[in-house]
Amino acid sequence: MKELLKSKHINGWRLFFLISIPISIDIFMQMLNSDMSSGEEAANMISYSVRYAIPFIFIVAAASSVQVLFPSPFSKWWLRNRKYLGMCFANAMAWQGMFIFILSTFQRDYYFEEVYFLRDELEGTVGYIFLFGMIVTSFNYGRKHVTPMQWKLVQKGGLYFLWSYAFSVYWWNLYYYPTHEPFSVPRVLDYIFYWAGFLSMVLRIAAWGKQRAQRSKKKSPMANPPLLFKAIGSSLIVTGLLASFTADYWYTAVNGFLTGPSWSAELVLWLPFWPLEPFLSLLIIGIGTWLYTKVLPQVEVVKTA
Ligand code: HEM
Repeated sequence: MKELLKSKHINGWRLFFLISIPISIDIFMQMLNSDMSSGEEAANMISYSVRYAIPFIFIVAAASSVQVLFPSPFSKWWLRNRKYLGMCFANAMAWQGMFIFILSTFQRDYYFEEVYFLRDELEGTVGYIFLFGMIVTSFNYGRKHVTPMQWKLVQKGGLYFLWSYAFSVYWWNLYYYPTHEPFSVPRVLDYIFYWAGFLSMVLRIAAWGKQRAQRSKKKSPMANPPLLFKAIGSSLIVTGLLASFTADYWYTAVNGFLTGPSWSAELVLWLPFWPLEPFLSLLIIGIGTWLYTKVLPQVEVVKTA
């Protein structure tokens, strides 16, 4: 296994081509079988191509955490190839970008009647700007034009933004559209992508918690998180997990509360993801993990003679 994972055929650019060529051929064939002069079919191609991208943003998001939580030759391979797996995401997104261009340029009526919504447009455009920045700064040429801090901001910010976009699409499909217009029944794919996105972020939170606990242990070996913090932390983690699959019960009340103030209702119109309903369960799990691993500073007792 260890030797297999080192094979040059499944590492680096070869891995990228191994994955992206068949994907591109399939999207191209699908396009040939579609009537691209129809707005509906062009929109279908947008969905078709982006579905090839989504798994990769989740795979990339989980790469470093899997290495922290379950180190193995496979997790090492995964982390080592993160950049190329990210490029597979970018390849499918480029196809989506092309279909968006076709739809918004040649089927403008359909686009503005059926697709255009200011906030979605802003979210999508910011997503593509991040994607462009991530690709450019993945190469030495782009990297040398930014400081390490800017590089981190583009790569991490982009990863979180694009993950948020993808994850939230499937959250809405599971918990909002079954009961709100234009009404749709969730597909198996919606469940798969929602839970895959959720798992990738839970792994990130768990890895962050593990590293935080290890750092505190190193700094003050005798200190342990207070029992009260551990109890509240674990209750919050359980609450967040419960919230992740019960949103149909709490969505209306929580949304009413969060968008109650007029400034908040105003933000919903243009601020991406506001008021963050899809992410609340993960936010609660994150705060729970923070409390669970919180160590109070040790008070040094200075003996005086
Ligand atoms: C301005 C940019 C964008 C526009 C105009 C746009 C437009 C669209 C359209 C028209 C659909 C099909 C909706 C339907 O058939 O009901 C769609 C689906 C989707 N888009 Fe975008 N999009 C943009 C950017 C993005 C970005 C950056 C992402 C990030 C990952 C993304 C992720 C998705 C997902 C996950 C779907 C659903 C696919 C499915 O059916 O499972 N989009 N988009």
